[in-house]
Amino acid sequence: MIKVLNVTKKFEGLIAVDNVTMKIKDITLLVGPNGSGKSTLVNIITGLYKPDSGKILFFDKDITNLKPHERYKLGIVRTFQIPQPLKRMTVLENVLISSPHPGESFLKSMIKGAWRKYEEEIIEKAFKILKFLNLEDLWEYEAYKLSGGQLKLLELARALMCDAKVILLDEPISGVAPKLAKDIFEKIKEIKNKLGISFLIIEHRLDIAMNYADYVYAMFNGKIIAKGKPEEIIEDKNLIEIYIGE
Ligand SMILES: Nc1ncnc2c1ncn2[C@@H]1O[C@H](COP(=O)(O)OP(=O)(O)OP(=O)(O)O)[C@@H](O)[C@H]1O
Ligand SMILES: [Mg+2]
Repeated sequence: MIKVLNVTKKFEGLIAVDNVTMKIKDITLLVGPNGSGKSTLVNIITGLYKPDSGKILFFDKDITNLKPHERYKLGIVRTFQIPQPLKRMTVLENVLISSPHPGESFLKSMIKGAWRKYEEEIIEKAFKILKFLNLEDLWEYEAYKLSGGQLKLLELARALMCDAKVILLDEPISGVAPKLAKDIFEKIKEIKNKLGISFLIIEHRLDIAMNYADYVYAMFNGKIIAKGKPEEIIEDKNLIEIYIGE
């Protein structure tokens, strides 16, 4: 899906990402201590930062020079926390406004009736997504009334609404109670299996995340210091060292 090839990013002398190469498909987990370069890498993948060197490929097409909105249109979607103003909107409205612009069908929508049909379709799609994520009964609630975990599900709903092919999640279960955290990962796994969407997930809660990952990369000081399947990496001495010892 996405290939990161020898990517380096410096901030005034500090090497935040140091010659990183990785493949993102299925559920790829990115772990590492604070400041190791994880979010910077995600920002490079979504196009928010330009790397100093290296390339990003999407289905083998070089997207290194594409703007963030161009990558978004290709289906590379990152979830953001729902900002305060949107929290005053309902759950359904939050999902609806994530729907892609009608684009070409916008012209068609000038023709009487077509716009209405388009509206009906996106509302139906939004409800399908809400149902899948167990948010259906909350559709009328203003988002600020949701729990932390439900808000995380709403972020996922918004990503699904815009036809993502790869979803980048920065700490999807931070601050979420264990039961709901597991439910969120179950949903992520189901989305992967049923819709073929891939994920890059940054998460500090290894106890839960490791059970759902297909592949894991560990970063430290900008470098990938360990990689492998969960059962392999959990025994990696580099990983154990950065998490437990000096
Ligand atoms: N815009 C920026 N300008 C300057 N330095 C930055 C910038 N963004 C990140 N850094 C630095 O780059 C390094 C990597 O930061 P990054 O946010 O990528 O880490 P992280 O792995 O996401 O950490 P955390 O787990 O705490 O979120 C840090 O030393 C940080 O201070
Ligand atoms: Mg970060």
